[in-house]
Amino acid sequence: MAVSDNPNSEKIRWFTNARFGMFIHWGLYALLGRGEWARYTEAIPPDEYHALAQQFQPRHFDATAWARLAKAAGMKYMVLTAKHHDGFCLFDSQYTDFTSVKSAAKRDFVAEYVAACRAEGLGVGLYFTVKDWEFPAYFDGPERNPQGWAALVDHFHNQTKELLTNYGKIDILWFDCPDDANFRGGWGEQTPDVWRSQELGAWIEEAQPGILINNRGGLPGDFRTPEQTIPHGSQPGVFESCVTMTHKHWGYCPADPYKDVWRILDELISCVAVGGNYLLNVGPDPEGVIPLPACARLLEIGRWLETHGEAIYGTERLLPDWWDHTSTGRITTKDNIAYLIVQLWSPTGSLSLNQLQNDVRRATLLATGQTLTVRREGRRLLIEGLSPLPPALPFNVVKLELDGPAAAQFYY
Ligand code: GLC
Repeated sequence: MAVSDNPNSEKIRWFTNARFGMFIHWGLYALLGRGEWARYTEAIPPDEYHALAQQFQPRHFDATAWARLAKAAGMKYMVLTAKHHDGFCLFDSQYTDFTSVKSAAKRDFVAEYVAACRAEGLGVGLYFTVKDWEFPAYFDGPERNPQGWAALVDHFHNQTKELLTNYGKIDILWFDCPDDANFRGGWGEQTPDVWRSQELGAWIEEAQPGILINNRGGLPGDFRTPEQTIPHGSQPGVFESCVTMTHKHWGYCPADPYKDVWRILDELISCVAVGGNYLLNVGPDPEGVIPLPACARLLEIGRWLETHGEAIYGTERLLPDWWDHTSTGRITTKDNIAYLIVQLWSPTGSLSLNQLQNDVRRATLLATGQTLTVRREGRRLLIEGLSPLPPALPFNVVKLELDGPAAAQFYY
């Protein structure tokens, strides 16, 4: 697997331009409504957990509805849990009966999902866990249980190959959790190569040239995956922050409170302003429906992006340091443009910043198209003529057309 540190390399350009994707955690655990870890954290016996597969018959699963919602939210790609740690597969597998095809639902949800993403023009991502609680060897580790371990690794390879052979072109392979208590190492930094990841990586390269792979498959991969956090300051290489829309769980948990739109958009913008992608999770219910509070937030974010998306898509960070914000918001840049994303509207009718060296040819408020006055006073750039009330909510964007490519200045 090639390590792509350059955000402009051909292979990864679509991804770094896209900036915003939908993560979907969905499986048997939706029936329990207590998040995707319930099997493990509640020590549910295997037979009892397996029986859930006979109840899992999502009457309202509609992959096209999911994909259209993602598009309406301004997202450019999706990542669905083909298999989570509980071992239940949303795809057809010849290596286990614990699948949605061989149980009550009798449907290949991955096939339906891939077709819908494609039809709606979204990038197709599949999450596939390395950690599989169907295998006790996962907990024993390779040294205590070499035979069981070998079977687990074979299973991991075989199912990865099924996913990458049976569903056409896949754009992102999103591995998870190659670590466990017995052989700790950072994600993507396993030594020795207990998953035979080098070998699998070579196979994948051959079978799906152009696919992007995250750093949780035992190798560094194409992008890093900060979880439940937005990094501060600029980050080396390509990264994608994955976060929940509720406070805690990834899988369906109706009691888990939702973040508000301000907070979600703040995360998206903060992530893009330090050069990353933002993968926002939803956990559909057992019938396959994305819960209403999630839909409402997504649609509101989509409406904001309709007007302000040019400050997000295809933009890059301006500030190559820990100093990644102004007093009122963030800055992104593209060609000869800097976007000042104002999160905290100024009540005085003016804004000022010291982060830009350039002269400004024209300043426009995206929400209204109003042209603003800009003055330079030494290091300080003053933007004037704003109304005391914010013209758009929750955030506004001032587009600054510059005399050349945006150049940062620092004031230590
Ligand atoms: C974690 C969790 C998991 C979730 C994932 C998303 O590693 O085990 O439940 O799927 O992160 O990043």
